[in-house]
Amino acid sequence: MVEAGPAGALRVAPSILAADFGALATAVEQIDAETDWLHVDVMDGHFVPNVSIGPPVVKSLRPYSGRFFDCHLMMSEPGRYLEAFKESGADGCTVHVEVGGTKNLIADARALGLRIGLAANPDTPFERVAPFLGDIDLLLLMTVFPGFGGQSFIGDVMDKVKLARTELDRDSLGVDVEVDGGIDERTAPIAVRAGANVLVVGSAIFSRPDPLGAARSIRGAAQSARG
Ligand code: DX5
Ligand code: ZN
Repeated sequence: MVEAGPAGALRVAPSILAADFGALATAVEQIDAETDWLHVDVMDGHFVPNVSIGPPVVKSLRPYSGRFFDCHLMMSEPGRYLEAFKESGADGCTVHVEVGGTKNLIADARALGLRIGLAANPDTPFERVAPFLGDIDLLLLMTVFPGFGGQSFIGDVMDKVKLARTELDRDSLGVDVEVDGGIDERTAPIAVRAGANVLVVGSAIFSRPDPLGAARSIRGAAQSARG
């Protein structure tokens, strides 16, 4: 198990969805110095209209990275796979609130010793996740509709990020607020100012000629916004 680190710390989480799947280990090693968490996007072709990777790939990547593996399960039935992810080397799993059964999923993840995140799509209201804030480690507020990398950041989600951060601080809950989708040097500061502290970045790292330099510059932009 890799420790997540203190809640609320600024973190860059490169999403390997945008990397070359034929050379994943190399991609992961290349950006390691700027990786706080490694974000692994799992798509089941049902919850989202796309298919990506699963536990075998997590297992294969594990020897190449000592970072926290932040697995984002875009799946209709994540409960069926939590154990497989844990056994493959996942450190945290994030499930979507839209699939239901949230209480049981949180309990199952905890029983396995996983850090647990809860995700909400851009059009899912804050009220859906609010009842679970005391039971989770991470709140993932999607800034695109999940399923594909390279989409544009939906700024309207910042109202929800602000609301979440305000409630979490009010209740002194050590929950990370993660944003995912369309994050780059321009949008990272916007998300950080709204209260996000974990930045998932796919295309703006891996589609650049210098992925490590891109990650560094996004971190710099986010740090400046923290003041
Ligand atoms: C979207 C995924 C994201 C995606 C982000 O369904 O959850 O993690 O990889 O990619 P970019 O940064 O390209 O928007
Ligand atoms: Zn993701």
